[in-house]
Amino acid sequence: AAMTIILGLESSCDETAAALVSADGRILAHRLATQEEAHRPYGGVVPEIAARAHVEALSPLIAAALTDAKMTLADVDVIAATAGPGLIGGVMVGLVTGKALAHAAGKPLIAVNHLEGHALSPRLADPTLQFPYLLLLVSGGHCQLLHVQGPGAYVRLATTIDDAAGEAFDKTAKLLGLGYPGGPQVEKAAALGHAKAVPLPRPLIHTEEPHFSFAGLKSAVMRAVQSGQYTTEDIAASFQQAVIDCLIDRTRRALGQSEGITALVVAGGVAANSSVRAALEALAAAHDLPFVAPPLWLCTDNAAMIAWAGAERYAVGLIDDLTVPARPRWPL
Ligand code: KG4
Ligand code: ZN
Repeated sequence: AAMTIILGLESSCDETAAALVSADGRILAHRLATQEEAHRPYGGVVPEIAARAHVEALSPLIAAALTDAKMTLADVDVIAATAGPGLIGGVMVGLVTGKALAHAAGKPLIAVNHLEGHALSPRLADPTLQFPYLLLLVSGGHCQLLHVQGPGAYVRLATTIDDAAGEAFDKTAKLLGLGYPGGPQVEKAAALGHAKAVPLPRPLIHTEEPHFSFAGLKSAVMRAVQSGQYTTEDIAASFQQAVIDCLIDRTRRALGQSEGITALVVAGGVAANSSVRAALEALAAAHDLPFVAPPLWLCTDNAAMIAWAGAERYAVGLIDDLTVPARPRWPL
């Protein structure tokens, strides 16, 4: 029989995306429309604008992805759509579209947790990556350490007690007047500054507490900005180093409790930061573990990771009913 083909849909935040992936991990097409320009005047994602933009963008992206792969809907075996967590209006657009396609074409639907998309994306990038692995999931909405044991099988070792790491980057960018989206702007500015120029806290490091915290760091950045003593570049570099020190300290602690893992893995938008990647790579090497990070485009939101999570779930029989709800909150 021909290889199973999965159509993936993503619409949980400010990217609309459609992708076609085969069950053996080939990316046959991936299309993405970002809403950055629509949200830029507001300095952040406006849910109502996002939902309307998803409605306009999604169907043409699906058509384009099918054309890229020289396919029609009849060639698709499984429909996978993000069902949460995220902005509910956007999530509903993608999930309802997925349900309609699944119903019309008589194909199974898989409701994918967006976080599972990120969590399994490293296996799409590197087919040799085996379960279980330790995952640092760092995005705009989440900052977690997870034991990934298989599709649908996650043990959370740590989460953030306040802001997510990406959120801290975005808020710092706003404080520094670097605009939206913040992470890449802060990384650019940081490259021109000194990481030791501004004394900033490293919340929770060296404590027995397993979790992350970034709110105190954000407040310290605000005070540094208001003091007028430092350049934007020095604040950006010092902030980025403080985040990295926190990520590394917490991840090192989790590695101590992770016997039998095959690799240290990073995923999510913040994993697009090259200094974050380099620090994690060094940590993995110090523990004699392989380090796996998806390519940059697969770290930030996309539909290939949703299609792939659908492929992994389909392979173990995790299929959903068309009554499955959209969920604004949905822990892994
Ligand atoms: O995974 P993602 O695309 O969306 C969510 O599911 O949240 O992650 C977006 C987050 C944003 O907070 C963005 O500022 C951050 O990832 N980000 C970065 C970089 N690129 C994206 N943070 C630091 N450095 C980057 N280069
Ligand atoms: Zn994401």
